[in-house]
Amino acid sequence: MLSIENLRVVYHDVISVLNGISLGVKDGEVLIIIGANGAGKTTLLRSISGMIEFYDGDIIEGDVKMDGTSIKGLDATDIMKRFDLTYVMEDRPVFWYLTIEENLGAASFSRWDKRVKADMEEVFGYFPVLRSMKGKRAGYASGGEQQMLAIGMALMTKPKILLLDEPSLGLAPLITEELFSIISQLNQTGITIMLVEQNAHAALGIGTRGYVVEMGRIVLDGTAQELLENEDVREFYLGSGKKERKSYKDAKRYKRRKRWL
Ligand SMILES: Nc1ncnc2c1ncn2[C@@H]1O[C@H](COP(=O)(O)OP(=O)(O)O)[C@@H](O)[C@H]1O
Ligand SMILES: [Mg+2]
Repeated sequence: MLSIENLRVVYHDVISVLNGISLGVKDGEVLIIIGANGAGKTTLLRSISGMIEFYDGDIIEGDVKMDGTSIKGLDATDIMKRFDLTYVMEDRPVFWYLTIEENLGAASFSRWDKRVKADMEEVFGYFPVLRSMKGKRAGYASGGEQQMLAIGMALMTKPKILLLDEPSLGLAPLITEELFSIISQLNQTGITIMLVEQNAHAALGIGTRGYVVEMGRIVLDGTAQELLENEDVREFYLGSGKKERKSYKDAKRYKRRKRWL
């Protein structure tokens, strides 16, 4: 469905962040991207969704295709409308001074049909807590509720593929669990998901396949199960390796080994 081919991205013409990333997202799956802070995950999603220029970034090589058609360099709204690809940015982008209901309404700006009310009901079906506070300003909602609203807003655009940037960031484990189970339900209704996460355990738990990104490169890929069982992933992303605790020296050696891959 979505294919990323040898993508190289720089910021401000000089800061090289993605160094030749290639990957594919298949129709109907939940694809997980894991990687440490600064690995380039957000940059990858910005490059796919048409947001990279907004951040003074440039795709200097490679291509991004939806069902075989290049979407590289297209405007973000265009990508959303024509290719049904919606990106939920990190940090829960909601309008603080609008109510929950107004936020959902604002998110349907690209729609011309009259099903907005019905779709809002559908969103409330997934996130009942939003219904109970629909007249409240989003700025007063908790982190978890704002994340649900951000995803609800994305649903109002009727996406075929949804890109989620670290939805669990800063949320309590129980809320994360609830959120991920809803993401899984959304996938079961036919929405393809590309999920970027530092919370590797929760993400791989609902994922089909995954990639590990380090310093703008893919260093590992496999089925979600394979990654959950992989020793390096367990050691560095799940914090539960076989050996007791890695020393700093071991970590450095690991990084050096990875660089030569
Ligand atoms: N707008 C920007 N201008 C310059 N550098 C940026 C910009 N956005 C991100 N970066 C840098 O790119 C690198 C990767 O960032 P990012 O894609 O946000 O990683 P991640 O989402 O994996 O934490 C970081 O070193 C970050 O400082
Ligand atoms: Mg990020």
